[in-house]
Amino acid sequence: MCGIVGYVGQQQALEVVVSGLRRLEYRGYDSAGVAVISDGELAVRKKAGKLTNLESLLGDDPLPAATTGIGHTRWATHGGPTDANAHPHVSEGDARNAVAVIHNGIIENFAELRSELAQAGVEMSSETDTEVVAHMLADILPATGGDLAAAMRQVCQRLTGAFTLVAIDPACPGVVVGARRNSPLVVGIGAGENFLASDVAAFVDHTKDALELGQDQVVTLTADEVVVTDFEGNPAPVRPFTVDWDASAAEKGGYDLFMLKEIAEQPKAVADALRGRVGPDGRLHLDEMRLDDAVLRDIDKVVVVACGTAAHAGLVAKYAVEHWTRIPVEVELASEFRYRDPIVGPRTLVIAISQSGETMDTLMALRHAIAQGARTLAICNTVGSTIPREADAVVYTYAGPEIAVASTKAFLTQIIAAYLVGLYLAQAREQLDPSAIARILNELADMPQKVDLVLDTVEPVRALARRFADATSVLFIGRNVGYPVALEGALKLKELAYMHAEGFAAGELKHGPIALIEEGTPVVVIVPSPVSSPLLHDKMLSNVQEVRARGALIIAIAEEGDDRITPYADHCIRVPAVPALMQPLVSTVPLQVFACEMATAKGHDVDQPRNLAKSVTVE
Ligand code: G6P
Repeated sequence: MCGIVGYVGQQQALEVVVSGLRRLEYRGYDSAGVAVISDGELAVRKKAGKLTNLESLLGDDPLPAATTGIGHTRWATHGGPTDANAHPHVSEGDARNAVAVIHNGIIENFAELRSELAQAGVEMSSETDTEVVAHMLADILPATGGDLAAAMRQVCQRLTGAFTLVAIDPACPGVVVGARRNSPLVVGIGAGENFLASDVAAFVDHTKDALELGQDQVVTLTADEVVVTDFEGNPAPVRPFTVDWDASAAEKGGYDLFMLKEIAEQPKAVADALRGRVGPDGRLHLDEMRLDDAVLRDIDKVVVVACGTAAHAGLVAKYAVEHWTRIPVEVELASEFRYRDPIVGPRTLVIAISQSGETMDTLMALRHAIAQGARTLAICNTVGSTIPREADAVVYTYAGPEIAVASTKAFLTQIIAAYLVGLYLAQAREQLDPSAIARILNELADMPQKVDLVLDTVEPVRALARRFADATSVLFIGRNVGYPVALEGALKLKELAYMHAEGFAAGELKHGPIALIEEGTPVVVIVPSPVSSPLLHDKMLSNVQEVRARGALIIAIAEEGDDRITPYADHCIRVPAVPALMQPLVSTVPLQVFACEMATAKGHDVDQPRNLAKSVTVE
């Protein structure tokens, strides 16, 4: 949510910053803006709308050559998506003495700070919470002798909420200062140049050497040096890391859309998520599982906290983890968990699932769990992000960068990682014997090939999606692990096709939602396997009859060889036969394709759907 780039070095800052922003646009695309320092003067351009609008403006009104610059892509919180509210925000004064600031997060005490500034005669030119920081920096700078980092530290001490801030001052050319509390900020280390960004994707073209910043730190960048302190000015520890993927991973690679590329990458992503998990002793090993077996043996409850698609992965995992470990598993939306009084303690394992590792609702839920003394584990895709850093243990999903806002490969790999955690618990607690664990691991190992088969046969789904592009509402029903798949299928359609879509537990339909069915209402049915789940299959056939009798049009996602569904399905999408708990890994894929194709047919921006952002770093 909001993308930030800062650069100082030998290259043209504008080019580095704009290409970085292009990589960060998934974080928000309500407006974009840049600021550079050239010949001791600050120059700013900003524009509402996507980055292309800013690029057109820069074409009409170019910036001077400069080697120090910052840039921002916005997901609006305070103030609408207008030119005036676009970042950077600039303090009062002329181009030689005004400072420019960009921000990701929410400054919760901005109203109080704004009225203080107003009383001091400062005139605001935007409705944002961010602008106060520009004025406060300008106000404090003279007393620090023009030390931008010192001024930033003092400002940060007065702020509450979540923020990444980056500032430049024409009086300090060749210096970029950043600050971080809760929101993400990483440093890229180059030769004679350095970078700041919300995500390494912004600078991976230039360097793979990076530094993770900790909580409440201020970083000062020059071309040759990176200095990190806490908010009091004491030297602060940082963790160096190396980006383990190539810049090409963040490109479309011949696909028209990132989402299409990421759907196609799922067999590899699933394989990567599974790779290297079994040791020479035949036992499951999870890297960075910093919880020892004695602790895991003592766990009496698992609580999964997550948002959006990640929460659906948690729901899928509940079925498997309870089955394998016999430990009760609760799954709760992170934003709800945080602000009630959940029962967690030292014997609870709280698992936070997050692709980005920075979703604020999930981070706050995790911190709440830590404060209650719970054991915590993160399932995360972004190495070095905040959530895995703060949890006791982490299992990375290794899906590679996911750029499309609607999550696809992250979902499948979150399921894999959560299953691995379930098996690891079962192993530590000797709930399953080694041969049972080995059998399930073998079933998982087959999944990349099964997902590949789905992708090979998914073409009819596209035609179907185009056919239903004018539907007003689509319902999804599932049972057992098919229920979260139904929720995920509906979420994808809402996110991408802006269509009313809802997922239901199929058995629950008759208790209310069945009233929604009209003649011709499309109902997507995740049909359980007649082989591995015969009882559920029978029940689902009954549910299908119930909605058909009321005029529903049935689109069945059914296993190869399931002939009993055929007479009741208007359209049947076949997926390979897999063990019952593995079904979400194949049945979700046609639903992703369905939503993607329907959005394309409706002319929507699939990778950047309206109103959404990929990383939501506000509560
Ligand atoms: C946003 C995205 C969703 C995502 C959710 C959780 O709302 O638009 O696609 O599922 O955040 O993200 P996380 O990074 O925590 O998995």
